[in-house]
Amino acid sequence: MNIENSGPLATYACIRNCWYMIGASADFPAGKLTGHVVTGKPVVAWRTKQGTVVAYDDRCAHKRFPLSKGRLMDDGTLECAYHGLRYDMTGKCVMIPSHPTGPISPQAVVRPFPIIEQDGIVWLWPGDVAAAETRRPPRLPEVGSDEWCTEIIGPMDVPANYILLIENLLDITHFYPLHDGNIGDIANSRIPVELEEGEVDGNRYAMTIRKVSNYAQPPYLVDWFHYDTVDRHHTHCMMSPGITRVVMRNAPAGELRDDGEERHYPGRLDANSNERGYVLVHAHTPVDAHRHYWWVLINVPAQHMSKGDPTKQTAKRIAEMFPTVIAEDHFALEQQQKMFDYPDDGYQEVFLKPDIAIRRARAIFHDLLREEEQGLARSQAAE
Ligand code: FES
Ligand SMILES: [Fe+2]
Repeated sequence: MNIENSGPLATYACIRNCWYMIGASADFPAGKLTGHVVTGKPVVAWRTKQGTVVAYDDRCAHKRFPLSKGRLMDDGTLECAYHGLRYDMTGKCVMIPSHPTGPISPQAVVRPFPIIEQDGIVWLWPGDVAAAETRRPPRLPEVGSDEWCTEIIGPMDVPANYILLIENLLDITHFYPLHDGNIGDIANSRIPVELEEGEVDGNRYAMTIRKVSNYAQPPYLVDWFHYDTVDRHHTHCMMSPGITRVVMRNAPAGELRDDGEERHYPGRLDANSNERGYVLVHAHTPVDAHRHYWWVLINVPAQHMSKGDPTKQTAKRIAEMFPTVIAEDHFALEQQQKMFDYPDDGYQEVFLKPDIAIRRARAIFHDLLREEEQGLARSQAAE
């Protein structure tokens, strides 16, 4: 696709053929039913006694009562709270209380969703089941590792299409004025942007790279990472439509590890050098085209303590202070989305130089949407 034609924003849509986070592993203790909505589809999910997480359509096949409001029985079946139909782990109805001896219609089934649990995260695939094998959730080795302290903020309920958050993360020239005085300043907005693209595990990615020398750190970054003036390496990578990974490496001027010509995906922080920084994983799961859930998984080497409170691990200190930054972004996304409710009526968006990754992310979204539409057309033609 010609990137010049990759706008306007696909704020009317969300990608279904993608693995999305529905929670951390700890959010799924055995036997607890949870209800979710992912890309407009209602989902009930739980961890079985055997330890695996399963998910299927949250609408009972009888009269659409939400199964997440039902209960799990001792034999592992899920009982609907309305008329008591019971389903096994595959979504097949195995018991109907009002006619216990009669045959059960083969239509009494609810559609299961593919689930993968990996790196301490539960991922759900809301799209075409046959296509689920073509992609894997991006690997996030720091999350839940003993060598890292991981703090999770969220999920936050954001009334905006999730591509607005992805664009916010790929274009951090909004650090001035939106985050001026906490994590950003005008100097940050002027750092040149490089772009890297590729494909890993079936997921096309777009990544920005910002390198700067002798940079005077804004107040929050001094509090977290100690150094007042740094050489800095900062990447933002949309690893898939479900995940954006941010890696920041800071070191005193002249001491930053030289990465030469190496590729930056997925970006690593060396815990055993004088580098300080973080790996922030932003998970953005669309509820529908106008709303998403947002998690921030803050990962910092476990031995790093903050300067602002030397008794606290840096990840914990960031988790305390970051909600101020999140509130600013949340405000911006909500305001933007409201403006999409007006017809374009001659309105035209201006692209600036640092928007390069936004253009590529949009092109990837358009390609994925087109691919889904063609898949749908193929399955309709086959019917
Ligand atoms: S709606 Fe679930 S049993 Fe009737
Ligand atoms: Fe921001």
